[in-house]
Amino acid sequence: MTNKIGILGIGSYLPEKVLSNIDLELMVDTSDEWIKERTGISYRRIAEKDVSTSDLAYEASKEALKMANLKPEDIDLIIGATVTPDMLFPSTACLVQKKLNAFNAACFDLSAGCTGFIYALICAHEFVKSGMYKNVLVFGAETLSRIVDWEDRNTCVLFGDGAGACVVGRVNEGGVISKILGADGTKSDLLYLPAGGSREPASFETVKGKKHFIRMNGREVFKFAVSIIEEMVIKMSNQSGCQIEKIDYFVPHQANIRIIDSAFKRLRVPFDKVIVNLDKYGNMSAASIPVALDEAVRTGKIKKGDKIMLLGFGAGLTWGGVLIEWGV
Ligand code: UT7
Repeated sequence: MTNKIGILGIGSYLPEKVLSNIDLELMVDTSDEWIKERTGISYRRIAEKDVSTSDLAYEASKEALKMANLKPEDIDLIIGATVTPDMLFPSTACLVQKKLNAFNAACFDLSAGCTGFIYALICAHEFVKSGMYKNVLVFGAETLSRIVDWEDRNTCVLFGDGAGACVVGRVNEGGVISKILGADGTKSDLLYLPAGGSREPASFETVKGKKHFIRMNGREVFKFAVSIIEEMVIKMSNQSGCQIEKIDYFVPHQANIRIIDSAFKRLRVPFDKVIVNLDKYGNMSAASIPVALDEAVRTGKIKKGDKIMLLGFGAGLTWGGVLIEWGV
């Protein structure tokens, strides 16, 4: 048995409905010019009213299974990464299991903000490495449009809906080379959703106070993001012995083009090595990285043998990275 563990298949799904910067100009005091210049975003996708996170995750998971050439019953574990679960419980992973008919799978969700997919990918890696499970389905899926205050220009222009998924298992070629996870709970107040949990259960007051929407200190998160990307790239390069110049592609969390620009300029990485799709979809939290990776693979940009670094950061604060050789 090979001791390499990697991605057997990947998939993504985006709702059809597009919300442009021009549409947003009619909703809040903003402009296409400001949004593009300050964030790099032009469009984002919005799930229809009757569509929830598990629906998006289900569609992405089907694509990942197809590429992996596996049936739903071959899946031993489903790990869901989302900050917009269908409900507080049961887990969205259980709801996806039901839709897929993946009845041999254990299921759970994890909460790591925009780093959720990286946390889930590393969990999946460890479950396979331990020998407990063979095939683990991981998804990062979000309907952020449900937790965005559409009257707040500071946040509503940033986020979108979507899902990405992959199957993790033993591979003959390629696989995970290096990984890193971290968190700093002292900065939990930089990005959060105040109510609906045990601290402030839903009430008339929480609804009136708009406490069921995203709150973010954009400037502080921005500074953190730039420095943590740089730190993770250097750490994983040292850890693996793989020089930064030898990495073919970087897939950072898609939060803001200025974050990506600053971080990779500091690292002297040429911009054509950085996968960016945030102009089309905005920030999709846990879905951003798998969607960007899936698109780069399906358009033939990322090829077998390429070394790719996935880099996540977000609420918690949390961060995480994976260096992987693409083997599919
Ligand atoms: O995925 C999780 C991680 N999240 C992130 O990584 C987000 C990180 N942060 C950012 O991307 C940026 O900080 C933002 C895009 C959120 C904000 O950009 P900024 O350059 O830091 O702007 P700012 O917050 O410093 O605001 C500058 C000005 C303010 O006006 P005043 O106070 O200077 O008069 C804002 O009110 O821009 C104003 N502004 C807007 N103007 C037009 C904020 N949002 C908008 C808007 N349209 N949508």
